[in-house]
Amino acid sequence: MSNLTIPGLDGLVDTEKGFISRELFVDSELYKEELDKVFTRAWLMVGHESQIPKNGDFFTSRMGDESVIMCRDKAGKIQVFLNSCRHRGMKVCRYESGNTSLFTCPYHSWTYTTDGKLQGVPQYRSLYEGQLDRERNGLVSVAKLENYKGTIWATWDKDAPDFVTYLGDAKIHLDQALDCRDGREGGSEVIGVHKWILPANWKFAAENFLGDTYHNPSHRSVDLIGIGPSAAAGKKGRRDNEMEKAQHIWVSFPEGHGVHSAVQPSENEYMESFLDNPVLEEYFRHCYEERKARLGEHSRLLPFVGAIFPNTSYHGRQPRGLCAWHPQSPTSTEAWRFFLVDADAPTEVKDYLRRYYMRYSGPAGMTEQDDMENWLYATQASTGTVARRYPFNYQQSLGADIPSYEGYAGSTTLQPTEQMARGYYRTWKNYMSGANWDVLLGRTDK
Ligand code: FES
Ligand SMILES: [Fe+2]
Repeated sequence: MSNLTIPGLDGLVDTEKGFISRELFVDSELYKEELDKVFTRAWLMVGHESQIPKNGDFFTSRMGDESVIMCRDKAGKIQVFLNSCRHRGMKVCRYESGNTSLFTCPYHSWTYTTDGKLQGVPQYRSLYEGQLDRERNGLVSVAKLENYKGTIWATWDKDAPDFVTYLGDAKIHLDQALDCRDGREGGSEVIGVHKWILPANWKFAAENFLGDTYHNPSHRSVDLIGIGPSAAAGKKGRRDNEMEKAQHIWVSFPEGHGVHSAVQPSENEYMESFLDNPVLEEYFRHCYEERKARLGEHSRLLPFVGAIFPNTSYHGRQPRGLCAWHPQSPTSTEAWRFFLVDADAPTEVKDYLRRYYMRYSGPAGMTEQDDMENWLYATQASTGTVARRYPFNYQQSLGADIPSYEGYAGSTTLQPTEQMARGYYRTWKNYMSGANWDVLLGRTDK
């Protein structure tokens, strides 16, 4: 590291004592280093198959700070490529989404097929014959790609483990966010993506979603006006009836992921939620009963929030969605929220959820504004010379004998804790020191 005032990784991240240096959230050298060491190896979420239903459909996404194209090729296969021409690097696609049979580079018009092959090179015969190997000059493809219940994930590391191994025991929690509300596997679709820039390091957002329930006082204004999904039925703030009697749990996983979920009591019953709208009431009651019948004991687990290392988060209930926290600079993040519904839900339900998402989440959403305000002021107050000498504190429940829960894999507690954040930064440190995959998956320390 070129900045000699910055200590080594051990001085920056001390998860034993519970201190994390502010440099992780403001320093430009560390930022560059993590783009190289974290974002070129970890599995990253790039989108959802429902965004590209037809052959030739594409959605331009990001991996780390780089633009990538997620597209369905003419044979129907999903592909992810670096959005950069092999000639002089021009973006071959400058649109957010669309349909095409070829990507034509705007600069000198090289053309690429939807499976990434370099097809057309103007004046090939007279200028390049015998020199340019078209086979070797296709768009740069990711090393591995996975369609997991409709969500598309990719990594640049050919040695990365398969995606389900990477997820580890966080899988059953993420599943609850991706599966249909009535318990069928998968079946969700994206009904919109919000994109905006927030002036804070990307890790602020990812860390919050590991299960920082401790920050709930930030959302007091939202709670007071009761904009929860069933606000019309009760006046108890952000109420989610299925959660009402549930036991909340906080889980840290060795792969660096963390979640806050809830477990319903076995005798749980559906509670009326939408008294002023019979269509919604019938739909959500049906989903509840159907899920219980289909999954039995397993239906007791409900997702709340979680973060999959390094920069994908989910909101498992309402508003249900996936977030990608794209690094933009040491102190800014391009936040993307993908809103999910069951693909076969009635139009009225989708419409209700769409309006609820916008009111609750995203750049104009009431809870997201609270969170962003915290992150941006924490960033501003952490860039100063004196402030940077003092690390952030992650000692919550460190060494304390807090009640644990045996029902699910992972280190599970029955009260809020910063163990998920400590686990996340332990993993971050391992990536930054170039550790092998056994270490990155928490299988061994060496
Ligand atoms: S940069 Fe793409 S054809 Fe030249
Ligand atoms: Fe929040």
